[in-house]
Amino acid sequence: MPAFAARAPAKAILFGEHAVVYGRPAIAVPVTQVQARASVMAEPMAPTGRVWLEAPEVGLNCDLDALPVDHPAQILVRGLLQALAIDHLPALRMRINSTIPIAAGLGSGAAVSVAALRALSAFLGHPLDDERVSALAFQVEKAYHGTPSGIDNTVITYARPLYFVQAQPFELLKVAEPFTLVIADSGVTSSTAAAVAGVRARWQAEPERYEALFEEIAVLVNAAKETIESGVPEKLGPLMDENQQALQKMGVSSPELERLVEAARKAGAWGAKLSGGGQGGNILALVPPQQGETIASALIQAGAVRTITSVVQASSG
Ligand code: MEV
Repeated sequence: MPAFAARAPAKAILFGEHAVVYGRPAIAVPVTQVQARASVMAEPMAPTGRVWLEAPEVGLNCDLDALPVDHPAQILVRGLLQALAIDHLPALRMRINSTIPIAAGLGSGAAVSVAALRALSAFLGHPLDDERVSALAFQVEKAYHGTPSGIDNTVITYARPLYFVQAQPFELLKVAEPFTLVIADSGVTSSTAAAVAGVRARWQAEPERYEALFEEIAVLVNAAKETIESGVPEKLGPLMDENQQALQKMGVSSPELERLVEAARKAGAWGAKLSGGGQGGNILALVPPQQGETIASALIQAGAVRTITSVVQASSG
C-alpha cells in the first residue's frame, strides 16, 4: 500500500515579529535544515473513518477521536474535510515526524500542519495548492494560538524568503547576495501564544508606547528589505540589533536570550536578535560566512543547547 508523504521546513523571523500582529510588515525565511514530515497510508482492515495518529516526538499514538475536539489534529482534519466537501475519511494511519524543536520560535506547529495537510489531501486524491494549504494551516494556528498574523504558515508553505503584511498578498523577496545565519537555541521552551497575549496586555495598558515601538520596527523592516534587495548583507546587522532593542522594550526578551545575543556579537556576528515569540526559544545571528563555525561554538559556550547554520541563498524573488 503506497504511503503519501510530504515535508515542510521550519522558519525564522528575520525582522518584525510581534509588530506584524499589529499590521506592520515582517520578513521571514525558511529554515530547511530541520523539517516536519507527514505520511498517510490506508488501513484497509480498520473500520471506515478510523484515523490512527502516530507522532512519536510528542508521545502520540492514538485514535484521532480520542483527542479533545480542540486538539490541533482534530481542527486540521475537520478543516480539511470541510474544504474538500467530504464528510468522512477512509480508515487511515498518519505518522508525523519532526526534527524541528518544539516551542522554540521555529514554527514547528505550522510545519506539522502544512506537511499533514499536503499528505492527507494527496492521499484523498485532492492535493491542495499552496494557497489552500496555507489558509487551512492558518485556521489551525488561529484556533490554537489566539491571534497569529499568518506569517508562520505562509513562509513555511511557500518555503521562500518573504516580506509579509497581515491580510495582504505577501511579496517574495529578491535576495541580491546570500547571507549566513547562525540560529541558536536557548533551550528555554516558550509559548508563542503566551508571548503574543503578553504583548497584547501591555499594548492595551500603554497603547502609545507600544504603537511607537511597532512603528520603529516597521521602519527597520523596510530598511532591511531594501538592504536584502540591494546586497551588502552585513548592513542588516545593525538593523537586527535595533530590532532586538525594540523587542527587549516590549518585554519579550529574556536573560538567556540576551546572553546569547551578546555572545554572538562578541564572537564577531554583524548583528543578532531573538526570533519568533521570544521569552525563550532561538536567537538569530547574522555572521560573516567564514566565521560561522567560531560563532556557533561561542554560542554553545554561552549556553545554547544547539545551533543551526543556514544560508539564505540569492534569488530573484
Ligand atoms: C511568531 O513566529 C511571530 C509572532 O509575530 C506571532 C505571529 O506573527 O503570529 C510573534
